[in-house]
Amino acid sequence: MRLFIISNRLPLKASKTGNNTFEFTRSEGGLATGLGSLDMEIEKHWIGWPGVHTETDQEKEIITEHLSKFNFHPVFLSPEQIENYYEGYSNSTLWPLCHYFYSYIHYKNIYWEYYKQVNEIFNQVSALHIQPGDIVWVQDYQLMLLPQMLRNAVKKISIGYFHHIPFPSYELFRVLPERDELLNGLMGADLIAFHTHDYMRHFVSAAERVLDLRFKLDQVQIGNRTIFVDAFPMGINYDLYHDAILEPEVQAKADELKKMYGNHKLILSVDRLDYSKGILHRIKGFELFLENHPEFKEKVSLAMIIVPSRDNVKSYADLKSKIDKLIGAINGKYSTINWTPVYYFYHSFDFNELVAMYNIADIALVTPLRDGMNLVAKEYLAAKRDSPGVLILSEMAGAAIELTESIIVNPNDLEQIEKAILDALQMPEQEQLKNMKLMQQKISRQTVNKWANDFVNELETIRNQNVAFN
Ligand code: UDP
Ligand code: G6P
Repeated sequence: MRLFIISNRLPLKASKTGNNTFEFTRSEGGLATGLGSLDMEIEKHWIGWPGVHTETDQEKEIITEHLSKFNFHPVFLSPEQIENYYEGYSNSTLWPLCHYFYSYIHYKNIYWEYYKQVNEIFNQVSALHIQPGDIVWVQDYQLMLLPQMLRNAVKKISIGYFHHIPFPSYELFRVLPERDELLNGLMGADLIAFHTHDYMRHFVSAAERVLDLRFKLDQVQIGNRTIFVDAFPMGINYDLYHDAILEPEVQAKADELKKMYGNHKLILSVDRLDYSKGILHRIKGFELFLENHPEFKEKVSLAMIIVPSRDNVKSYADLKSKIDKLIGAINGKYSTINWTPVYYFYHSFDFNELVAMYNIADIALVTPLRDGMNLVAKEYLAAKRDSPGVLILSEMAGAAIELTESIIVNPNDLEQIEKAILDALQMPEQEQLKNMKLMQQKISRQTVNKWANDFVNELETIRNQNVAFN
């Protein structure tokens, strides 16, 4: 028995460096970083897009060969497919819908045509690798049609689906013209899962109303199959982040950064450039703090790591220029010879740099307007190890359900962000350490390995019960 993870993006992305040469780097985003660090007993394969456009068969072969060393199997997509399936239906229609950004939803019929087409391509590539008896785990909103396609294509496989982003209330989900097809696509899975019970309840309510199904608690019968729904909060590879600072290279990086930022307090934020992350609200909240607390002038800085993301989608490109402008204005207004209020990095950091930043930051400011889970919050806590530190966390992130010892804020309320920064800066060290320990205990138990094992075990239990499989 083997486990096949299928996601739009592979945990390694290729970029072209020359004629028939490619460089492979870690993909960003919680799905890839979290699942990419899984360490399971079972033989694991991964099917997904390698993040690059290829011109020739030779290029495809080079990439396929390199990825096969890790049991990764690429699905190659054309520029038109990326434009309409990835940037279009996935990230201009489904993403804003699931994150409650109604006015950002952009809809075209052609997006849907390509979404179906690309899900079918994933199905065909997967069917080449998957055999009866395998466990297949489909990931996220880009592939909602795939479970049912796979159910028809390969017999006697267990299929799970995990939705990494919020599932919206029925009132929002119903606006989608393809609501039936998407839900029917998911119903091909044996287990459909979410980060929180709230997302799960929304899904059940949408499925009952749209498909006229009746769930009994966490299950529904369709023909001779029983389909289960459940909530599994995703974790991180705790030891990887917790122990990172023990590496001399990471410690040296942390020392170097500390020197660079001087004696003042450092607030850190880390996100993909995405409107759902509340970046503008956060900067405005910090500006309000500077305005109302001149006593902190030259004493505190905000470092923002913003990773480029989906920059061909208009709403993302527009956001980039607004962020640039706002940070420019704040730095222009408040900077002194000795002090930069906002450090702004618009590129991704490698692992060592990122954990060194987490480790030296006094405060993590994580304020998404909506977020399925948010792994950055958990990574920060793990990487602090035995040092004090404060997490300010949005109540709209899935992680807020577990991380109750953080300072929880409504990210829409700038005054709450301002107050949370002040409270964090004034929090006694003992209290910081106490809260940190309590949250570290939780996330060290609920790791990404446990999350994946719990999911796969539940899928196996279902397989043993399901008549259709046997
Ligand atoms: N990340 C990264 N490089 C960076 C900044 C962030 O690999 O320079 C990773 C970070 O470690 C985290 C992920 O990107 O694992 C972001 O996941 P999260 O769940 O917070 O948000 P998502 O991007 O999935 O919406
Ligand atoms: C979120 C989504 C993932 C996605 C990631 C990065 O975590 O849930 O499915 O992979 O963002 O986004 P990208 O569009 O670059 O894959």
